[in-house]
Amino acid sequence: MAQRESWATRAGFILAAVGSAVGLGNVWRFPYQVGEYGGAAFLVFYLLLIAFVGFPVMMVEFAIGRYTDRNPVGAMQQIGRGVWSKIGWVFLVAGFVILSYYSVVAGWILQYTVIGLQGNYAAGGAGAQFAATTGGLTSVLTHAIFIAAVIAIVAFGIQDGIELSVKLMVPAILALLVGLAVYAGTLSGAGEAYAYYLSPDPGTIVSNWSEILPAAAAQAFFTLSLGMGVMITYASYLGEDRNLAKDGVIIVGLDTLIAFTAGLVAFPILFTADLTETTDGPGFIFVSLSEAFSNIPLGGILGAVFFATVAIAALSSAISIMEVVVSYLIDEHDVDRKVAVGALGTAIFLLGVPVAYDQSSSLVWLVVYDGLANQILLILGGLLLALFIGWVATDLGLEELDKGVQDLGVWGQAWIWTLRIPVILLLLVVLWQNATGVYESFVGIFG
Ligand code: PHE
Repeated sequence: MAQRESWATRAGFILAAVGSAVGLGNVWRFPYQVGEYGGAAFLVFYLLLIAFVGFPVMMVEFAIGRYTDRNPVGAMQQIGRGVWSKIGWVFLVAGFVILSYYSVVAGWILQYTVIGLQGNYAAGGAGAQFAATTGGLTSVLTHAIFIAAVIAIVAFGIQDGIELSVKLMVPAILALLVGLAVYAGTLSGAGEAYAYYLSPDPGTIVSNWSEILPAAAAQAFFTLSLGMGVMITYASYLGEDRNLAKDGVIIVGLDTLIAFTAGLVAFPILFTADLTETTDGPGFIFVSLSEAFSNIPLGGILGAVFFATVAIAALSSAISIMEVVVSYLIDEHDVDRKVAVGALGTAIFLLGVPVAYDQSSSLVWLVVYDGLANQILLILGGLLLALFIGWVATDLGLEELDKGVQDLGVWGQAWIWTLRIPVILLLLVVLWQNATGVYESFVGIFG
């Protein structure tokens, strides 16, 4: 077998992980979750979960990936016994499902970039425009274009494909978003928007915590690309000398900062534009925000820049999901990288076609795929990882995290005990809540 690939530089690994983390989760999903679950109240839960659940679970994935130097399925086969050796499959299934719909939504983002360039936001109504975008053959076509871009990058491998592309994409995303946030801050509705976004209402937290918590947990996993082996895969291309915890702090910090900045872009624009149509849920940035763009100075260009930024962010995330499934075929079945990427890319494209073609106004297939993958599989994946390192392979985790740190000291124990009790209990509650929620919405759709 050929020598396994690796990152060329430390920055390459960090940028790739940041590129994976920063994506539709930050710019498409995060603002509508904030809107749906009580503004700043959601933000509070989200930040706590990022720090106390997301970060420890990311360290689990890093430790497993670097220890084994394998894809998630192979990694668990190597270090787990009995059922533990099989849990990598949960990650692979999640990856398949997530990439299939992620690419569809990214395709809509591409369409909205073009619509902005033509200066046509909300021509004929923002809602009608969204409806025309999200179903039928155009949506299938933009899904295909996006998957083709993912295939093209991943086919070049770790250094010449993923690492090179994220070195261009991640700085571009950062610069564009900060620029947009600065411009949004000059708009007349900015003051009101900041107040809504930044001052949590204790009443909302107390009365709605049982809904906010599971939603915030699902968002935390999604945005950090956790629970499906992306970070296992990326860490498997790392050298032994690196301080995983330090890299993790940078990655989590940048992802959070970027989600937060996306809010600083979206809310002032919304509060400035006098909206006639507002849409919650997955249509939020497409309907509400694009209508807002049509009502503010330079809106068309601004919208095109905004959606182009989101498209780049989506691409740098999608390649990480593709790498998870591709690395499995390369490591375990010795398949040539280009063949693996082409075959899996085609399969994932086909899996996404129902979501892309769906013309129902409630986006039934998107809700089904997103509910299954994000609210169930990612949380389940995170729970299994926490159980495994927390209770089964504790020493392996501690040893691996210690490398490159010199002396983990009390932090190692703090990490393990955080995983052992609070993280596990919380994820159990969240999984239960999400499972009943998803079940009810499935009954609502199909029953
Ligand atoms: N983190 C990505 C985002 O925020 C989505 C993602 C989820 C990527 C799971 C990989 C794995 O858009």
